[in-house]
Amino acid sequence: MALQNFEFCNPTRIVFGQETIQKLNGLIPETAKVLIIIGGGSVRKNGTLSEVETALGRREFAVFEGIEANPTFETSMQAVEKIRQESFDFLLGVGGGSVMDATKFITGAVNYKGDAWEIVTNGGSNITSIVPFGFVPTLPATGSEMNCGGVISRKATNDKLSIRNDLLYPLFSILDPTKTYSLPKKQIANGIADAFVHTIEQYLTYPIHAAVPDRFAEGILLTLIEEGPKTLNNPEDYESRANFIWAATMALNGLIGAGVPQDWATHMIGHELTILYGIDHGRTLCILLPSLMQEMRKDKHGKLVQYGRRVWGLQGSDEEKIIDEAIAKTRAFFESLGIKTYLKEYDVDSSAVDKVVEQLRRHHLTALGERGNVTLEVSRRIVEASL
Ligand code: NZQ
Ligand code: ZN
Repeated sequence: MALQNFEFCNPTRIVFGQETIQKLNGLIPETAKVLIIIGGGSVRKNGTLSEVETALGRREFAVFEGIEANPTFETSMQAVEKIRQESFDFLLGVGGGSVMDATKFITGAVNYKGDAWEIVTNGGSNITSIVPFGFVPTLPATGSEMNCGGVISRKATNDKLSIRNDLLYPLFSILDPTKTYSLPKKQIANGIADAFVHTIEQYLTYPIHAAVPDRFAEGILLTLIEEGPKTLNNPEDYESRANFIWAATMALNGLIGAGVPQDWATHMIGHELTILYGIDHGRTLCILLPSLMQEMRKDKHGKLVQYGRRVWGLQGSDEEKIIDEAIAKTRAFFESLGIKTYLKEYDVDSSAVDKVVEQLRRHHLTALGERGNVTLEVSRRIVEASL
């Protein structure tokens, strides 16, 4: 039992704090021709875009608008075409995880010879060149601002698949907490849940005596439990919002996952629920995680007890009781954020079970979890228990 061998290198520069968007001027080459990539317009309404435009000064730039939540291959390819035709040489994603993920795919696709969908079906491994890019994130949740992953959907084929490549770390991300004040409560709740589950999926596996990752992960979970409700209920409280944002970034920038087993089953099954039923990413995780904890409680026994004791402060010597309570507290935490945790509450019935299992089979997601033993049968039981 020990930390596993690992390499860790995160090259993204984080610029954190109020009034920091102006620093773009020093982060982007003076001669750059910049394509700003945005979503459905929230950054226009809350003033972030105009601050970005001012910070770009005399640089030539244009705006590509219209990246949707759960960004699609189809829309992203329109941006790819624009970049190819007009020779932009710097991309700036301004928005939530969807804008950031789309920007990552777009930058990898611009110079790709052949059908760019192959990038997605190969999990991003075949990206060999990119256009330099950075981010001004406006939604704390995914960690995309400081990692090299992204998730791209294709409507026509019902696919929602992850890409990952070391070339996809952004050069920089400017995190100004005040630019997130305009987020609807629902998106803050989703973001807290997403960051929470990212942490859990790198922590709640089996014990290897990884002292630093465990304590960091517990620190992030405790921060989300303490600061989450504050920032949800007081959206313009800088203190709690700043803490939440940094927790969300740290939850998925590679640090807590270095040297430890990982379990991304909740995310993988969740992506199928999003593509099939349009349920927000963060919500799919809240629906599935309590059922997964219950289903895998024998495999995860040691870590579930540690989680119950250290994160929820549960006491006593009856370990099964601690696990029961830890699972109940996890569900109650999600519900306290206003997130419903059963599929029926999203008007999804038992016909979902076969459909999700078929999607997982089609996507070769047949051996999930830290031990590869979340088979289709186990995933089926997890979805059934989530109805
Ligand atoms: O489109 P606009 O108008 O910008 O509105 C967005 C969108 O409707 C809005 N929003 C964003 N910032 C705002 C704001 N509204 C008001 N004020 C602001 N400051 O919020 C809505 C949701 O945005 P979206 O970007 O879709 O949400 P999120 O950041 O949760 O990203 C979700 C996507 O990230 C993927 C998910 O699968 C999903 O596709 N993930 C990416 C990961 C990664 N790259 O590492 C990991 C995650 O596990 C996740 O899978
Ligand atoms: Zn996530």
